[in-house]
Amino acid sequence: MRIGTLDIKGEVSLGPMAGVTDRAFREICKSFDCGLMFTEMVSAKAFYYKDEKTKALMEIAEEERPVGLQIFGHEPEIMAHMVRELSEFNHDILDINMGCPAPKIVKNGDGSALMDNLRLIESIVTEVVKASNKPVSVKIRKGFTTTNAIEVAKVIEASGASLLSIHGRTRNQFYAGQADWNIIRDVKNTVSIPVIGNGDIFTLDDAIRMKEHTGVDGLMVARGIQGNPWLIREINAYFKDGTRLDPPTPEEKMEVALKQLDLMIKYKGSHRGIMEMRKHAAWYLKGIKGSSKIRDQLNRVNSREEIETLLYDFIRTLSVD
Ligand SMILES: Cc1cc2nc3c(=O)[nH]c(=O)nc-3n(C[C@H](O)[C@H](O)[C@H](O)COP(=O)(O)O)c2cc1C
Repeated sequence: MRIGTLDIKGEVSLGPMAGVTDRAFREICKSFDCGLMFTEMVSAKAFYYKDEKTKALMEIAEEERPVGLQIFGHEPEIMAHMVRELSEFNHDILDINMGCPAPKIVKNGDGSALMDNLRLIESIVTEVVKASNKPVSVKIRKGFTTTNAIEVAKVIEASGASLLSIHGRTRNQFYAGQADWNIIRDVKNTVSIPVIGNGDIFTLDDAIRMKEHTGVDGLMVARGIQGNPWLIREINAYFKDGTRLDPPTPEEKMEVALKQLDLMIKYKGSHRGIMEMRKHAAWYLKGIKGSSKIRDQLNRVNSREEIETLLYDFIRTLSVD
């Protein structure tokens, strides 16, 4: 997929996930050849008020690129102001969040709340495109309460965006029910800019079906990559030459989990790194027979050594079985 002068390799992009797609996890996904990744969303207003935590979320390593920096907000001037101030950051794409369903975001008029306001969408995208020296993308949903992604997509394209990602659920659905891939197909058939389809890709076969059903230019996977970056490699290998790769062994999973743990500790310090790694470790264990036994224990570990011992002791029980 080409976005301006950017050449995006493979089919898969990593969907932005607040609290998940931090630098450590992105580095892991990059080692599985993820072609395009997005940061966690950051608030344009918090950046405007020079919030240091927000700046930390925006750090992108040279080796991870290309990366989309995702911002949220609803005030065109504040968002454009932020974008003009981004010269020290390493992003390749500036992504605008119009999909977040969380009540605390929506009540401020941010995220998916924008889907109901075409004039504001036009103004935000126009101002941000004018302010940005990088291509601008927008991530939308099927609609807020009703379906209006086609109208929204047309406005976004006409306002100068270079890429659109669409999650096939309305805001009211949050993450429940099934993603509607028909709306993704219809948006793809409406606009000429590249479209990335998103929602409910958990396996290679899901990816194949989404691609066939919608004809999108790229596939965005979010929850399906949690604890399973192998999915990126699996999908890319299949679309390159039809190869179906073997799934990872439990040992391989633990090795990558520990590599991620080390990165989390490196970037966030030991305490925070370990706390935040607990949920990732549980995701890596998902699907391994008997792993539910050690999930509770994982929530009580406080050091790297304890995590390593717990994981490897568990793996040893598998080979004895
Ligand atoms: C924990 C979590 C955090 C998320 N944070 C963001 C976010 O910051 N920005 C965004 O645009 N979407 C966010 N999403 C939505 C995902 O990017 C994606 O659209 C959604 O999960 C559907 O894709 P999936 O079925 O592949 O998970 C988040 C989803 C989850 C589960």
